[in-house]
Amino acid sequence: MFAHQLPFQLFEKSPRELLGIDVAEQPIYIYNNNKFHKILKARQKITQEFVKSLLLKNINLVFVSLEDNQRIQENFLERLRANSRALSIGDPYENSMKHLSLMTLNLSNLYSSPLDDEILKLLFQTSGNFVNFLHQNKKILNKLYRQISTHPFHYSKLQPLLSSLLLLGYCQYLHQFSAREIETLFVTSYLKDVGMCYVPQDSLDKEKLSPEEKKALTVHPYNSTLLLENRVPLNRTSLEIVTHHHFLNDQIRQIRLGGVPQSNQDYAFGIETYLVGVFDVLTAMTTERPYRKASSLFESLDLIKNVMADQYPLEYKALIYFLKNFFKV
Ligand SMILES: [Fe+2]
Repeated sequence: MFAHQLPFQLFEKSPRELLGIDVAEQPIYIYNNNKFHKILKARQKITQEFVKSLLLKNINLVFVSLEDNQRIQENFLERLRANSRALSIGDPYENSMKHLSLMTLNLSNLYSSPLDDEILKLLFQTSGNFVNFLHQNKKILNKLYRQISTHPFHYSKLQPLLSSLLLLGYCQYLHQFSAREIETLFVTSYLKDVGMCYVPQDSLDKEKLSPEEKKALTVHPYNSTLLLENRVPLNRTSLEIVTHHHFLNDQIRQIRLGGVPQSNQDYAFGIETYLVGVFDVLTAMTTERPYRKASSLFESLDLIKNVMADQYPLEYKALIYFLKNFFKV
């Protein structure tokens, strides 16, 4: 069946997200060979076995109706809200893992409904609460990072979390920022990529992009700023960080191509912008993508040295010590 023949609008979901509802009100589809194929009829139960069977067939994307999409979103919103309230009751590590998964599922929902204020505001609040919780449970950060980095979420949803968790660990190690400043930096770093919602998911998995896809990717920091401005209480400095969070990626790309990095003459970036940019680029380089292998930590730090060490030598040295200890290399 072609998209124009379908009786309703469809929304992309990962198979795991289907577990947010017990029964699909409308049929569920997959898309291949330029057609939609029904894989579950309306009013049928969604079971763990059904989701598992999709994953075993390497189906990473399913399509649900507007109605089911809303029900999935409401379920994950409620679960994140409830988990945030109960973070300090029970085992801190187990609660935190659940929290990180629910944050990622809600971030995924925000990508499909970027103008939904409820999801955005809840992510803003709960990510802030979570930083404060981790201040009291510093020891679990390393285990959390290692565990969440193995989760099978798409890298576009996992990357903001991984880079923000590493940034948080580094800021705690540095003892240079207040608890409030660290919270703001974490939330800024976590929400900096919401503009990626306008980049089609399949283009994220390709090595060669069309000029249109490249443009969509290049402007995502500006789209993030537009999506966050006046909707969550991030201050002007944080919004500037979001807008420029890719300035180091651009410089490192120039070095990799054998050139000399061109620093942006129009802006004098502060340490906060550097740190958000450094952890973004570091996490991106050291994790695998469908179209390339991961770089080693050593190689990544060597590239970062070229764009950070002159401006912030002490912070760069501290970065090496922190990462050595964090990854025990
Ligand atoms: Fe980004």
